[in-house]
Amino acid sequence: MAVNILDQFKENQEVKTIDTTKKLKVGIIGTGWIADAHILEYKKMPDVEIVAGADLTFGKAEAFFKKWEVEGVRCYPDHKSMLDTEDLDAVSICTYNTTHAQCAVYALEKGVNVLLEKPMCVTIEEAAEICRAEKKSGKIISVGFQPRLDPNMQMIKKIVESGELGKVYYIQTGGGRRRGIPTPFGTTFIEKETGGIGALGDIGCYSLDMVLNAVGYPKPLTVSGYKSAFFGTRPEYYPTHPEYAAKFGVDDFAAAFIRLEGDIILDFRIAWAMNMDTPGDTIILGTKGGLRIPSTECWNGSVGGPMKIYHEVAGEQVETEIPIIQPGEEGLFYDKIRSFLDAVKENGTAPVPTSQIIYNQAILDGIVKSAAKGREIEIQIPEI
Ligand SMILES: NC(=O)c1ccc[n+]([C@@H]2O[C@H](COP(=O)([O-])OP(=O)(O)OC[C@H]3O[C@@H](n4cnc5c(N)ncnc54)[C@H](O)[C@@H]3O)[C@@H](O)[C@H]2O)c1
Repeated sequence: MAVNILDQFKENQEVKTIDTTKKLKVGIIGTGWIADAHILEYKKMPDVEIVAGADLTFGKAEAFFKKWEVEGVRCYPDHKSMLDTEDLDAVSICTYNTTHAQCAVYALEKGVNVLLEKPMCVTIEEAAEICRAEKKSGKIISVGFQPRLDPNMQMIKKIVESGELGKVYYIQTGGGRRRGIPTPFGTTFIEKETGGIGALGDIGCYSLDMVLNAVGYPKPLTVSGYKSAFFGTRPEYYPTHPEYAAKFGVDDFAAAFIRLEGDIILDFRIAWAMNMDTPGDTIILGTKGGLRIPSTECWNGSVGGPMKIYHEVAGEQVETEIPIIQPGEEGLFYDKIRSFLDAVKENGTAPVPTSQIIYNQAILDGIVKSAAKGREIEIQIPEI
């Protein structure tokens, strides 16, 4: 009884029941590392039937569904043969970065809703093709930024939207690791042919999403970008796999100075490897207050510790600490997949829409292009 009484004071008591009268037929394209996280959550959904899967590597899709004990799944050697044959409601695209665009465009052309892993793709031209295909299809595509569903990350946006910071004019963000080039599952992240971009696309896109989402995704106007690869190209970086060095074809560090619409400056840096523990906290400066987000692995949905607002109260300079909020029990990946499925079923809008993420991609692409030219460039967003 006492428990019930106390429960009245809990926020968000509403438990959404899942309508199981219609089952969604789902396919998975690319059955590598991250596909594990997708199938784990799909298996928990009572309104999902996993009916098809595809992978370029012979036998990989079959072994994947066997490992996850999902029976009766039809397996295909690539995304096209799967989408040509199956009648699907939705697909998860879990391929490496350089095939995101071709898989997403083909799925949309076949009238299938798409949950696309991050980064959206590699270039701004590919991002524009995806947006055009989405517009033409009338289906939705949501990009897989699960940290957005973390309540602490959502608090950053709430603080900005509350007006507590006043007009935001400067943002510093980014992050990185001292040594953390992701090769435990092979070389698809570090090869140009598969990764396309390196730290930029793997973790940089998350740092950008954290702050751009908070300030309403303003359009990027110009960028002066830099990128380097001083670590990934050294054989001694990989004691057990020195041959990986010759395969390394992407960035392991990048930095940029970006001008955003609305007179906002964005100062950004990201590292897979560097001779430093952290490249600094994320800070958002506004005319009334400033927000410090402790240096964070934001790609895991972490704010790295309590955030602080620096502001004035009755003429005094004070700091307000924002307590850490405990995330929900299901986990961010469950929430990412559930929010996508709900949007599909309700003919709703994508939880993480391409109309925003095209700006994220434009910045990544702008950094690559500016770095190649060695100077600031204007960011061109193609017509959709
Ligand atoms: N959201 C997250 O937390 C998170 C974490 C890790 C990776 N990712 C993203 O997920 C994606 C995949 O990463 P991964 O580590 O699983 O890569 P991976 O290399 O382990 O797996 C990718 C698989 O896709 C297959 N593939 C490529 N093109 C294909 C096509 N046209 N048709 C069918 N199969 C195809 C490859 O054969 C490979 O098996 C990357 O874009 C990465 O950025 C997201």
